[in-house]
Amino acid sequence: MFGRLVELPDVRRRLASGARVAVTGAGGYTGRELTGALLAGGVAVVNLTGDPRRPTPFDGRIETRAFAWARPDELAASLANCSVLFNTYWIRFPRGRATHALAVERSEQLFAAARRAGVGRIVHVSIARPELESPLSYYRGKAEVERALAASGVAHTILRPTVLFGAGDVLVNNIAWCVRRFPVFLVPGDGRYRVQPLHVADFATALAAAAEADGDATLDAVGPETFGFTELVHVIAAALGRRVRVISAPRGVVRAATAVLGAVVGDVVLTRAEIDGLCADLLASDAPPIGRVRLTEWLRAHSDELGVEYANEVRRHYRRRGA
Ligand SMILES: NC(=O)c1ccc[n+]([C@@H]2O[C@H](COP(=O)([O-])OP(=O)(O)OC[C@H]3O[C@@H](n4cnc5c(N)ncnc54)[C@H](OP(=O)(O)O)[C@@H]3O)[C@@H](O)[C@H]2O)c1
Repeated sequence: MFGRLVELPDVRRRLASGARVAVTGAGGYTGRELTGALLAGGVAVVNLTGDPRRPTPFDGRIETRAFAWARPDELAASLANCSVLFNTYWIRFPRGRATHALAVERSEQLFAAARRAGVGRIVHVSIARPELESPLSYYRGKAEVERALAASGVAHTILRPTVLFGAGDVLVNNIAWCVRRFPVFLVPGDGRYRVQPLHVADFATALAAAAEADGDATLDAVGPETFGFTELVHVIAAALGRRVRVISAPRGVVRAATAVLGAVVGDVVLTRAEIDGLCADLLASDAPPIGRVRLTEWLRAHSDELGVEYANEVRRHYRRRGA
């Protein structure tokens, strides 16, 4: 289900029916949920993507433009007449030329183009607990992008999710994929660090609402339930009717095990930075929840399909792109 615009204020301005907005990765995980909601509200969507030939569920209903990196005129032209830029653009893990530093540089180009094009507001997707001094390039890069957005001069909301779930997500789905196949599940460290999953439709609703806000704001975006990581694995296993032995292991051991699994499935299962981020309790926040969908209830309703297919990010992002 796509998020619903009924959550918005009665008087919509930037997302009035007939408005035009840009979404980076409208066919992507968050972008798809958001785009479905926007189209349902009569809003026209320009999809900015690195792979314009990749089909989306909205083909024929959205305009698709390739990211024109390092071509500022073309990038700004893609954003012409857009009231809002919804920015989901990021590179989850470095691979070849695609590094976090490159993602920061491109995000700066995007914000500069939005300013030139006269975009009224940027709604930007970050991550909980970004830090300029972080030793983890993911969290450091996200903080650098937030700083660039603040300096861009464009009014904005930054939403910082911890972890998202919904059909085909990476974390919950792939834990379920493992639980379906293996009797043992390794967790790094003590497994007590917290996770606050937010349903992607709730997140899409929050993104749309942020488009109607005024001024600048930065908000954490977390779901209504909090789990310890080991507890999360047990909750998923219980929903699937499986028994699994969860074993705490040193981070290096988990890293090696996920590297072997990654070689088998052809993916980057979990990066060192993600393992470190998990163990440092970075997937939790003290902010009040913004989501309504409870993972425990959602799992019950989706246990048949959950984890049947592995959600492969390398295949999704690099099969055609080649960089
Ligand atoms: N998913 C989560 O659990 C989660 C949790 C916290 C924060 N976030 C943040 O939420 C945002 C959206 O996440 P998502 O999972 O919905 O993202 P996504 O759909 O996988 O990708 C979003 C955008 O980033 C581009 N992109 C992704 N990987 C790329 C790569 N390797 N090289 C070049 N471009 C790449 C995509 O380009 P294409 O259009 O060409 O595919 C798309 O425009 C990200 O900023 C992420 O950091 C996500």
